[in-house]
Amino acid sequence: MTLTLKINGQNHPLDIDPDTPLLWALRDNLGLTGTKYGCGIGQCGACTVHVDGQPVRSCALPVESCAGQAVITIEGLSPDRSHAVQRAWIEGQVPQCGYCQSGMIMAATALLKENPKPTDADIDAAITNLCRCGTYPRVRAAIKAAAGISA
Ligand code: FES
Ligand code: FES
Repeated sequence: MTLTLKINGQNHPLDIDPDTPLLWALRDNLGLTGTKYGCGIGQCGACTVHVDGQPVRSCALPVESCAGQAVITIEGLSPDRSHAVQRAWIEGQVPQCGYCQSGMIMAATALLKENPKPTDADIDAAITNLCRCGTYPRVRAAIKAAAGISA
């Protein structure tokens, strides 16, 4: 079937099985490979994007349910890596292998939009993404830096 996805402000008509996970529409149909595949079962958060402002795990979301909604991927956060969270990530040298990091950044930007001054407990509750490299302390520090909170 044909449905239209609104990705990073642009409409994309797609001829696609409506049950296809959003992640594969992004990566395979649209070439937006910044969003990563980790577990495929909604557990790790590597595939996190925003749908109507909410962080969602795109591996577990049928593309049909996103039709007409505003989807933002890591590629759409800013044209030049100038988003406060991206700058804090670079400044804090957060990534190690990097695989989980676009999902981490999308989860962090969603948290800060909802809660501009999160506590450690807020961060722990909101950022449930998994990082096999253990970058959690740097993730937390960068979220605080982006929020203007001194660590
Ligand atoms: S790949 Fe989607 S949550 Fe792990
Ligand atoms: S930086 Fe390697 S998995 Fe997170």
